Amino acid sequence: MKQSEAKEHIEKLRKEIEEHNHRYYVLNQPLISDFEYDILLNELDTLEKKFPEFIIEGSPTHRVGSDITKEFEQYEHIYPMLSLGNTYSEEELREFDTRIKKNTSGSIEYVCELKFDGASISITYKNGSLFRALTRGDGNKGDDVTLNVKTIKSIPLKISDKTVPTEFVIRGEILMPRAVLNKLNDERLKAELPPFANPRNTAAGTLKLLDARIVASRSLECMIYFLLAEELPHDNHYDNLKEASEWGFSVPDSIRLCRNIDEVIQFISYWESERKNLPYNIDGVVVKVNSLSQQEELGFTAKSPRWAIAYKYKAEVASTKLLSVIFQVGRTGNVTPVANLEPVLLSGSTVKRATLHNADQIALLDLHLNDMVYVEKGGEIIPKIVGVDHSLRNENSKRIEFISNCPECGTALIKNEGEANHFCPNYLHCPPQLKGRIEHFISRKAMDIDGLGEETIDLLFSNNLIRNFSDLYDLQLEQLVPLERLGEKSASNILRSIKKSINTPYHRVLFALGIRHVGETVAKTISGRFRSIDDLIKANHEQLTSVREIGPKIAMSIIAYFSDNENLEIINRLRLVGINFSDNKNPNLTSNTLEGKTIVISGLFQKHSRDEYKELIEKNCGRNSMSVSGNTSFILAGENMGQSKKEKALELGVPLLSEIEFLKIIGEE
Ligand code: IVH
Repeated sequence: MKQSEAKEHIEKLRKEIEEHNHRYYVLNQPLISDFEYDILLNELDTLEKKFPEFIIEGSPTHRVGSDITKEFEQYEHIYPMLSLGNTYSEEELREFDTRIKKNTSGSIEYVCELKFDGASISITYKNGSLFRALTRGDGNKGDDVTLNVKTIKSIPLKISDKTVPTEFVIRGEILMPRAVLNKLNDERLKAELPPFANPRNTAAGTLKLLDARIVASRSLECMIYFLLAEELPHDNHYDNLKEASEWGFSVPDSIRLCRNIDEVIQFISYWESERKNLPYNIDGVVVKVNSLSQQEELGFTAKSPRWAIAYKYKAEVASTKLLSVIFQVGRTGNVTPVANLEPVLLSGSTVKRATLHNADQIALLDLHLNDMVYVEKGGEIIPKIVGVDHSLRNENSKRIEFISNCPECGTALIKNEGEANHFCPNYLHCPPQLKGRIEHFISRKAMDIDGLGEETIDLLFSNNLIRNFSDLYDLQLEQLVPLERLGEKSASNILRSIKKSINTPYHRVLFALGIRHVGETVAKTISGRFRSIDDLIKANHEQLTSVREIGPKIAMSIIAYFSDNENLEIINRLRLVGINFSDNKNPNLTSNTLEGKTIVISGLFQKHSRDEYKELIEKNCGRNSMSVSGNTSFILAGENMGQSKKEKALELGVPLLSEIEFLKIIGEE
């Protein structure tokens, strides 16, 4: 490829990728699959490496920053980041309206926005490029988190719109959708890490991480609420936000122009109940005077603008009686105290239980049995006890003590120095931990055994039919049919899907074993390096840590797992039923990178022959196909590729990969 061609192609790709980012992250209407997106990104990356003279700062390839910052530098805000006056009452809101009318001329329009519950960010753009992103800091100076912010895909890195001022500052809230937090917490629980408490803290914490790659993996979003510049495109806040939306920023659709305070109040009461249906948390509504000249007229106090106010929703609190405290043992052995309460209505639902987090929390509240307690539903999903009415305490009531032995298996609990939670160390025999591991074993990304849910596992467990996951393969129809709720049909379905799981590929079996810290990706890496479980069992610390991605923590966990005879016994039983503990079924397999992909080869190649490419596709678990169809994942396109294939590909939107790109994907370049 000539230099001029490369430049043109690089620019085209960048534009295309930006467009896909916008469709995916802002409009939520992606046109292509993740895989196709990755192919485009890959192509750009290859070209940029080949023609480094065309690399620009802010290319989509740089979004997942691999640079690691040691600490954050601080910079002055061009415009200080002020706070907002708050109110919880309609009356005060009306007073605000009266004040505004008294101190301005002309009629007033308000802009109502949701008050997002995340971390604020201030981003400066120069000549259409993202220049610097600062946290709020102390309002005058903030932490430079530019590298992290650049990984957030709803924040454009470059804007080419004609209406963009040469220099401007845009502000918004960095958020983590609740669903993202839930998924993240599921993964953390599986990896035996403590879950994050709420989306806000997690978003704020993520923004301050030192590894931009982790930030990139956390799916943060940014909702824009403020545009500042020497010269703004419009004379009012609403139109400026709408303009920013045209430039590619995520401006929430919920913003409303209101002609009077009654309309504002309507907006507030609508979102008070509707907010539970939003994907992220809000804690109120921000009301702003729309006209910029009126804003100027009103000015600022030392702390906040006089032209805006935040109406905050109250976290509803209810008072009820503490009936008892039970201690729950989670799948990972963590023990959580849970309060049983006299049922009470709170934010539209009846609350009977509340979390008490850990021993420190119980001590802090100095909780006694039958106490009248205050329960609150905050940003967290589970209600919590926030206080005790000591005046109503019965003198003889018993203080709540944390337990010292596991309520499930009796083993003495352990609390590690510096950690808040107690946990049960009886990993092999404590029932909830055993059940948790079976549930993990059968899950979709592991052995994918259909028809077996949490309830059925419970049923099998309580009927003593299973103790660990290798027992699943010994189950017989006549054992299942008599069980409550299981008819003959579902029993035989279960057995069929257990049997089917025997063919699960080795890397997923490794994941299914539930070795601490061995998640899906690590299992794949390990299976590529240690081609059979026997190789893995024999591996020492040095051999393990020599593999990229495996650090001492994972290595130690693998060694500990295989030094336990009970684990080895389970593996042997699984081996006897025919589970794959190596890639030996297909000894030529190099990886499963192309699993599920149908690939068409066309044209002439330089590095390998066509037959060699066919073999490479198979060795990496891909499928060769002769003709291009809607099922084709991509075309491995050489020089002079067939015209009809090319046209068909174009028509169906099937991507073309050069041989270098292909070799890169399978890790041969
Ligand atoms: S306007 C001068 N609008 O709430 C105007 N703030 O104290 C300043 N926030 O930490 C902010 N949603 O990060 C504004 N729609 C919204 C907001 C919002 C959330 C946060 C902001 C700041 C706090 C205000």
